[in-house]
This record gives sequence, structure tokens and C-alpha cells, in this order.
Amino acid sequence: MRLKQKLTYNKENGKALLATNFYNFETLSAVLTAAKQSESEIILQLSESSIKYMGLKVAKSLAKAAIEQFGVKAWLHLDHGQDVTLVKQCIDVGFDSVMIDASEKPFGENVKISHDIVKYAESFDINVEAELGYISKLGQDQKMIYTQPDEAKEFVESTGVNALAIAVGSAHGFYKEAPKLQIDLIEQINKVTPAALVLHGSSGIPDEQLQAAIQQGITKINLATEIKNIFMKSLQHEFKNTDNIDLREVFPKATAQAIDLVSAKLRVINFN
Ligand code: 13P
Ligand code: ZN
Ligand code: NA
Repeated sequence: MRLKQKLTYNKENGKALLATNFYNFETLSAVLTAAKQSESEIILQLSESSIKYMGLKVAKSLAKAAIEQFGVKAWLHLDHGQDVTLVKQCIDVGFDSVMIDASEKPFGENVKISHDIVKYAESFDINVEAELGYISKLGQDQKMIYTQPDEAKEFVESTGVNALAIAVGSAHGFYKEAPKLQIDLIEQINKVTPAALVLHGSSGIPDEQLQAAIQQGITKINLATEIKNIFMKSLQHEFKNTDNIDLREVFPKATAQAIDLVSAKLRVINFN
């Protein structure tokens, strides 16, 4: 099934997919192993910086080859595409889904940029996600601009995006204070737009809130920081306790921790 259809199915059935960022072979294999073990479908996300790190060809080929080798149903998605040229390149090389993120631009400009990508993606029949509102980024200001239901409706009508990232109280990275998702707002936005709603900034959100958000219409749960954190914390711990230079023996310890984390998240998200 194409991701577009899967997300529509999720919207109609109160279900969600986990969308995990990966950074290298180890985090990629961790995510796919967890999905395989729990027989879950999953979205693999590459940020612009991860694509810069690996190069588009390697990043894309690594993901596609790993999906095949692990025998998991998974889709490849560009996360927070702000560079229109790169977004188009990802579409050209066969990503299943892209996010065009012009959320920091004024409404009209966001509509225009997002609509252009929808047009470009049309013949590829892939999923296009855009963002409306402002989901604050790690280490930056914590201003919160919630997505308004009437604007969401107008935005989706004008752009034709399939998926919409909404600002409903989540933020990227870990939280200083416990987050409080606006569950009612999710419900209101979900009612007035045909788009599949996406929750960004899921690291640090309590399980009950994730499940409540899914019940009210969130169809895709983006998770990045917790994966990076557990992988690196585990490596830091390993390096204190070993002088083994065989990375193929040291890295798998961190990979195992990441597998456990993603498995636990999948249990939370696949609750219904
Ligand atoms: P976290 O880093 O808070 O998990 O957010 C991930 C995200 O939204 C990726 O788009
Ligand atoms: Zn995000
Ligand atoms: Na977060």
C-alpha cells in the first residue's frame, strides 16, 4: 500500500504509524529490527542534515536495501524539507514521502511553496506532508503558535497536501517541563480537514498522551531525539568500560538499546 493510502486508512481507523529518524547503519538496523520483531509497519525518516551527512545516494540506497534485507514493510520519508531543490531530488530518486516545511514563512507563502511540491509530486503518487503552525526546534525559542482549525482547513484545501504536521503543544527534543498536548484541538482539526495529521516532537511525550492523540486523529508519530539519545548514551557508557576497538562488537550494544526503545514505542503506538 502507498503511504498516502495507509495514512488515510489510519485517519479513518484511529491508528498511527511510528516514524523514526535514523542517522547511520546502526540506528537504521535498530528501527528495522524492532519493527520486524513486532511485525509492525514503520516510516524511516531522513532529515536534511542526515542526507548531508551520508549523501543522498548512500542515504536512500542504504534505507531501501535495508528495508528489503530485513523484510519489513517500511516507507522512506524526507523529514523537515526546507530546501525545495533537495525535496524535489528526494522525489526524483524514489522517496515514498516528503515533508515540505515552510512553516516559518507567512501563511500565503507556506501555501504556495507547499502547493508547488504537491504539483511536482503528483505524477509520482507519493505522500506530501507540510507543516502549519510552529513546532519549536531543539535549543531554540519556545514560542508556541498552535495550529488553528479554520487555517488548517484552508491550508489543506489550497495546497492539496495529504498529511499535515500540526502544532498542538509538542516540541522537538526533550522537554524542560512535562508537555501537555491539546487533545481537543487535535480532534477539532481532524474533523475539518481530510489530511492525515502528524505529531512532531514525540520524544518525551508520556505514553497516555500519545495514545489520546492517536485516538483523536494523529496518524503519524515522529520520533528522533530519544533514539539518538539512547544510542549515544549507551556508546558513551561502553567507551568508559572497554578499550575494544572493534566497532562491530561495541556498536551492537548501543543498537540493542535502541531496539528496546523502539520496540517499547511500537507497543505504545500499536495499542489499538
Ligand atoms: P523529537 O526529536 O522530539 O522526537 O521530534 C522528532 C521529529 O519531530 C522529527 O520530525
Ligand atoms: Zn519534526
Ligand atoms: Na520532543
